[in-house]
Amino acid sequence: MIIVANWKAYVDTTEKAKKLFTSAKRLTQYADIVLAMPHPYIGMCGGSAKSKVALAAQDVSISTGGADTGEVTAGTLASLGVSYAIVGHSERRAKGETDEMVLEKVKRALAHNITPILCVGEQERDPDAKYLNTVRAQLSAVFSQLSQKERLAVVVAYEPIWAIGKTAAESIQPVDLEEMVLYIRKVLGEYLPGKSPLKVRVIYGGSAEPGNARALAGGSGIDGFLVGHASVDVPTFSALVRAVS
Ligand code: PGA
Repeated sequence: MIIVANWKAYVDTTEKAKKLFTSAKRLTQYADIVLAMPHPYIGMCGGSAKSKVALAAQDVSISTGGADTGEVTAGTLASLGVSYAIVGHSERRAKGETDEMVLEKVKRALAHNITPILCVGEQERDPDAKYLNTVRAQLSAVFSQLSQKERLAVVVAYEPIWAIGKTAAESIQPVDLEEMVLYIRKVLGEYLPGKSPLKVRVIYGGSAEPGNARALAGGSGIDGFLVGHASVDVPTFSALVRAVS
């Protein structure tokens, strides 16, 4: 299991960041732990190079550098030891990020050996299952433009927007998650031969909490979680990681 903690903008002091980072180190015995933290904390945590906790950025710039005020490039992130980057999170898409921009970001990350965590997911579920088309379009926009090798390097995070920032009770049901994971791998099958879609890691995000994580992990075919609010409280995150290990 790979568990990505998406701190979003919840963590606003270095003390809190250090506490979360230190406790995450103790959780690496249970799962692969990836911390997606605000950029400044990456500098702070990146120094301890031998750490088993992997560092992620919550976004990566399209910029390749130069005169581009305010941008943080993939090269900069890589030089700080970042090995993953969340790309196309719905909270960034809501600010105007298009599929084209998401594709560029995926390419920038890959060019610097940073594993992109590509977020896809529908706004809501409709009885005609048109939401499947949304997910298909988001996946296709990226996978159709990558090489075979690059396709296998992407982690897909299925994050239904309606389930984000809620509670375990309002999150997705295991059976619905299982169905979506199968669908995602079916779409990936259009871009990858044979059994290769099974090699692409698919993780789930959207109110994954200690109370539902184990049920969601069992039998759904996911390889891990992208955890938001439940990742910024030490006991809660620790309980979630232990629950799925
Ligand atoms: P949540 O966020 O766990 O708070 O629902 C998940 C995400 O948006 O990555």
